[in-house]
Amino acid sequence: MIRYLSLAIIMAIISVSCQPSVETNTPSDQTISDKVDSLMSLMTLTEKIGQTNMYNGTWEFTGPVPADNGSQEKAEQIKNGMVGAMINVLSAKATREAQKMAVENSRLGIPLLFGYDVIHGYKTMLPVPLAQAASWNESAARQGAEIAAREAASAGQHWTFSPMIDVSRDGRWGRIMESAGEDPYLSSVMARAWVQGYQGESLADPATIAACAKHFAAYGFAEAGRDYNTVDISDQTLFNVVFPPFKAAADAGVATFMNAFNEINGVPATGSTFLQRDILKGAWDFQGFMVSDWGSIGEMVTHGFARDNKHAAELAMNAGSDMDMESRAFERELEALITEGKVDVVALDDAVRRILKLKYELGLFEDPYRYCDEEREKNTLLARENLKGAREVAQKTMVLLKNEGNVLPLSKEVKSIAVIGQLAASKDIPLGNWRGQAVSNSAVSLLEGVQSALSTQSKVSFAEGYVLSKGTRDFIHELDIQPGNEDGFPEAIRLAKSSEVVIMALGEDCYQTGEGRSQADIGLKGNQQQLLMEILKVNKNVVVVLMNGRPLAIPEVMDQAPAIIEAWFAGSEAGNAIADVIFGDYNPSGKLPVSFPYHVGQEPLHYDRKNTGRPVTNEFDNGLVFWSHYTDAPTEALLPFGFGLSYSSFEYSYFSITPKEKGATITVEVTNSSNVAGTETVQVYVRDMVATVTQPIRRLVDFQQIEISAGETRKVTFDLSEQDFGFYHKNYQFYAEDGAFDVMVGGNSRDLLSMGVTLSF
Ligand code: BGC
Repeated sequence: MIRYLSLAIIMAIISVSCQPSVETNTPSDQTISDKVDSLMSLMTLTEKIGQTNMYNGTWEFTGPVPADNGSQEKAEQIKNGMVGAMINVLSAKATREAQKMAVENSRLGIPLLFGYDVIHGYKTMLPVPLAQAASWNESAARQGAEIAAREAASAGQHWTFSPMIDVSRDGRWGRIMESAGEDPYLSSVMARAWVQGYQGESLADPATIAACAKHFAAYGFAEAGRDYNTVDISDQTLFNVVFPPFKAAADAGVATFMNAFNEINGVPATGSTFLQRDILKGAWDFQGFMVSDWGSIGEMVTHGFARDNKHAAELAMNAGSDMDMESRAFERELEALITEGKVDVVALDDAVRRILKLKYELGLFEDPYRYCDEEREKNTLLARENLKGAREVAQKTMVLLKNEGNVLPLSKEVKSIAVIGQLAASKDIPLGNWRGQAVSNSAVSLLEGVQSALSTQSKVSFAEGYVLSKGTRDFIHELDIQPGNEDGFPEAIRLAKSSEVVIMALGEDCYQTGEGRSQADIGLKGNQQQLLMEILKVNKNVVVVLMNGRPLAIPEVMDQAPAIIEAWFAGSEAGNAIADVIFGDYNPSGKLPVSFPYHVGQEPLHYDRKNTGRPVTNEFDNGLVFWSHYTDAPTEALLPFGFGLSYSSFEYSYFSITPKEKGATITVEVTNSSNVAGTETVQVYVRDMVATVTQPIRRLVDFQQIEISAGETRKVTFDLSEQDFGFYHKNYQFYAEDGAFDVMVGGNSRDLLSMGVTLSF
């Protein structure tokens, strides 16, 4: 018998604090459920199992099917109705051909579901997700996902394996780039925006695609930031840090979830009844389906959790994994497992029901080819409005990290600019990793962006200076990082010397982040920094543009360069968007979604840490050693979470708190004391001073992004409720405890106005 709701009591308690799910505007749930029931009554056991099976599209549909890579057999399986979904079948034409195989040959003609990793765009690349999170702008994130959905849908895709909303606190982890960073609240806001952007008002709209919240759960907590590594995590962190973005995605109506490669406290996520049945489908009442991660069912054998593939299939299905991505364990083993009574057919029926429900919601039974329109595809991919949107989103993701002496914005009257660095001329690196079907070398480079922002009166010269990576550069192979030679230095230095201003790109190759791309060091690779220091000797007017997909440990750069823009991997329109910021056509408004450390040894670093019994206080930092710190590096971040400057300057004043029933209203006045209009993200943090479970020294609970004209003062009000002051307790109940709180408000997680208040709930 399946262990449904083994934590029933706990979960009943948790569900009390769950928000109701958002309804999608598809045919009524009842209509769909009736249709699913009637279809299922016609299905054989084998056909049901077929729906839980996902194949990789390993062949060209437009060419002959090679006989030697298993594709022939896969094609037969599709025709036999033994496949529910496919990944990596790309284009309207290819999906039409595959769909035809299923619909015209299988007994019941059930359409296939086509899924793909549309992580930050299909062909038009948006900034990488971490960058989008740096916008702190829900509508920008939604706009990005809408563009991605429109393009992917036109190319035959029904479903994206996105958003990845694993809270990521360790810069060594390469997949931090795919996340919304270190904070559960910001990640929840982004999760909701991405889901809404992909899915739109209704999945029945063929310009939308189903989203997938991944990786459930705690994949971002891999020990030492090493991808796929063991996760050992407390319930406190799980419930209060890891779960909230997933809960937000579920509440936003996300169609599917993906489980994770990692084990969590000794149980692989793929085989975890607790995560999949008790929490997701139990307490949160999630009605969509759970797809495994690639081969993660089979990997339970390697984990040492399952004896063989058959045992793995049993554990996965019983635990609530509904679809098997590429392990072929359900396909091969479920029938026997059901016959032997090791898997209850109820579990299979539940999985199939969930999968068919999505197919109905997408309208695939009405018209299985509704996403297979080649004309639409041609008109949609890389359409001008998509690129325009990509530029708008990218502008909002830029974070101004330093602007000493107001070097920025640069005047367009500048006589001469030296643009330096391999990254500056790269038309490929800004596309980022997990780049969908982006055309290689199709991004606007920084150099091109600068050139097109200026008239011919300004002389723009370029020198590569350093070489960061060479040789094989792709998603699958190890990257060929260059230790560095100095051959390019003299030319770069010569140009820097003879130019009014230098724009120097520093950072990472885009394939330094992404899956399997963990690093033990998160400084600048090669000899980029040496070149910067040489250049600073001959020209002080240096604007550093950082391109990277993780927080970097760059204290020297921060110290020496007068102006620094964090541009991330900004996508197809990268160079234009960066130039918009450099020349002041866009006043930067981004804020860091992750803390930047001084040193990699500080990782995992996150602002919402606990105080400990020996924090940094006068008592302990007086030359004594017995307090919680490093003896060779700072304890605090180099750049704190939430940090980002603007060409405007903002001042906070008149902070007030008014307690109300089960919460508080806070107000603050924000003045733009500069002479340029700007956008500020006003952030609110809370600390529960004394609690039955110790609480972080501050925790983001709300923020508002506001535009303020030059010289204007705006009063901002936040209504904080029990939700903002409470947390999940040891008994899994969510509530706030009566007593003293600090409430803090400001423009980043470090520089805050703070006020104490006593509240009761
Ligand atoms: C990744 C997933 C991805 C899947 C399909 C896996 O390796 O972990 O995030 O969606 O592959 O490509």
